[in-house]
Amino acid sequence: MANNRPIVSLVGAGPGDPELLTLKAHKLLQQAEVIVYDRLVSQAILDMIPHGTKMVYVGKASGKHHMNQDETNQLLVNLAKTSRKVVRLKGGDPFIFGRGSEEAQFLLQHNIDFEYVPGITAASACSAYAGIPLTHRGIASSVRLITGHCRADKPLDLNWESLADKNTTLVFYMGLASLPQLREELVKAGLAASTPAAVVENGTTSNQRRCISTLDNLPLDIQKMSIQSPALIIIGNVVSFADELNWFTPQSDYNESEQQVVEA
Ligand SMILES: C[S@@+](CC[C@H](N)C(=O)[O-])C[C@H]1O[C@@H](n2cnc3c(N)ncnc32)[C@H](O)[C@@H]1O
Repeated sequence: MANNRPIVSLVGAGPGDPELLTLKAHKLLQQAEVIVYDRLVSQAILDMIPHGTKMVYVGKASGKHHMNQDETNQLLVNLAKTSRKVVRLKGGDPFIFGRGSEEAQFLLQHNIDFEYVPGITAASACSAYAGIPLTHRGIASSVRLITGHCRADKPLDLNWESLADKNTTLVFYMGLASLPQLREELVKAGLAASTPAAVVENGTTSNQRRCISTLDNLPLDIQKMSIQSPALIIIGNVVSFADELNWFTPQSDYNESEQQVVEA
């Protein structure tokens, strides 16, 4: 017998390039009655959604009220009571710095079923499109995905000693504002200031920009390029592959040796 209970699908939209959407995510977007989405879902993916689908934006818009997490949780429950196919669409992967698990818990508490469709997270997608392998035999044997976001007026509280390992690739999400602190703490904990480091802005899109630098110089170099969010920080010896393995050609790129933005 068919299960007629409403279900909320927590769906990863991937990092931006619409061709990185999974087939399952694409199918659910075509079938959804209502889609709740936020800031990091790319326009190219929104353009794939059939006209007539009810769209609810819950991301931040400068100067305007946006829904906080409690309101978003409640909205999903309310929608599930009136619509049978609700999709909660999030940038990257919902369970990686995406609060997808909090939303899933809230749905369960309200006796609403959920399913989870993973998306390609920024760490793997942005590094791949920047020509940076996250691991490489003999160079990086592990990867750490770390949030660089700190609460207002509070410094980042991380175990810097455990992060300062030359055989580990460090990937910081939401780390632009705290980059100077990251650099200082990692060097203090023993990571060489000359460690290759990069920032990828708008990864996988036609607006992608890379800043390839060193841990020491990265804060200044991204300032020169006026790098903005969304941007991902990658620190580790694997960044030294960025020129050799650079296969993706977006509209613009940064060449450190010429210290200028190069229009392709
Ligand atoms: C709230 S987290 C969401 C991460 C998302 N759930 C994922 O799995 O990729 C937002 C951060 O992800 C990173 N990010 C997401 N998409 C990105 C992109 N296309 N280019 C660069 N960074 C991105 C940035 O560090 C951004 O500040």
